[in-house]
Amino acid sequence: MKKKLKAIASYVTALGAGMIVVSSCVTDPDSSGLEYMPDMYRSPAVEPYVDYGHIQGKEVEKYKTQQSALRPPHRTIPYRGTDSLEVAMMLPYHRKASKAANVTHGLYEAEGWTLSDSVDTEYKKAKTDKNPIQLTAENVDAVLDRGEKIYASKCQHCHGENGEGKGPMVESGAYAGVPNYKNLTDLGDGQVFYSIYYGKGAMGAHSMILNKKEIWTLVHYVNQFRFDDYGDFSEDSEATSDEMGAEGIEEESTEEEGAEQESTEQE
Ligand code: HEC
Repeated sequence: MKKKLKAIASYVTALGAGMIVVSSCVTDPDSSGLEYMPDMYRSPAVEPYVDYGHIQGKEVEKYKTQQSALRPPHRTIPYRGTDSLEVAMMLPYHRKASKAANVTHGLYEAEGWTLSDSVDTEYKKAKTDKNPIQLTAENVDAVLDRGEKIYASKCQHCHGENGEGKGPMVESGAYAGVPNYKNLTDLGDGQVFYSIYYGKGAMGAHSMILNKKEIWTLVHYVNQFRFDDYGDFSEDSEATSDEMGAEGIEEESTEEEGAEQESTEQE
């Protein structure tokens, strides 16, 4: 009796195994065969921007026509990573826009902009703001390369490839009043940042298309038009540490210090 049961059990097992093997065989070489747990072969797609309207194999018509990614809550900012310099760059800019920025640059308080109660005090105060990205012999090429890329896509059409204020927009006669960076040696780094961030005169604000890190990178890039030898770390360079932003190049200040410096400025 026991023997018979054992025999039946092994028959059933063999048959079952055989069925599994046979049923898994399909002619299409790209097919995974019979899927016992389809979700493990194909995880249900979560498509942030394109929604095909499929939920667990069922088609849901109404999802096909709407974007599934939700807008982040108003006034939230990205905050990720552990590098304190990077993180500090994500925090809001501590300087308020000019009192007139609503009229001149469309920065309305109702849309979340904070305007100061003066037209230019914040801009004047920005003169001494330091660039948290310190230029060193090691990072200078990377920073200026990155700056060049952003400049080419967002600034060059007005300011020109060499920064003399003769970009294609100006050459075409469509636009005027773009300064030559060479004549802007009196501006502090923080003012360059401020003007790119909130705009100035006929130049629009760029804070909605560039983040703070990108703007501070541009400040370095613009500086190499403003000052001869800026970013030249070779021995015979005449550039002074003052022109290189931050605390100067002699001080072996680390990135962390740079970030701390910015967070204290925000208080
Ligand atoms: C639509 C044309 C235009 C674009 C695009 C533009 N600018 Fe300007 N920029 C101007 C004009 C015009 C001025 C002069 C503003 C004034 O002083 O009234 C100016 C002024 C400046 C100044 C001097 C600010 C100051 O405080 O005096 C800097 C620095 C500057 N731009 C950098 C940039 C950078 C970097 C970009 C790219 C992110 C950029 N600009 C994009 C037209 C433009």
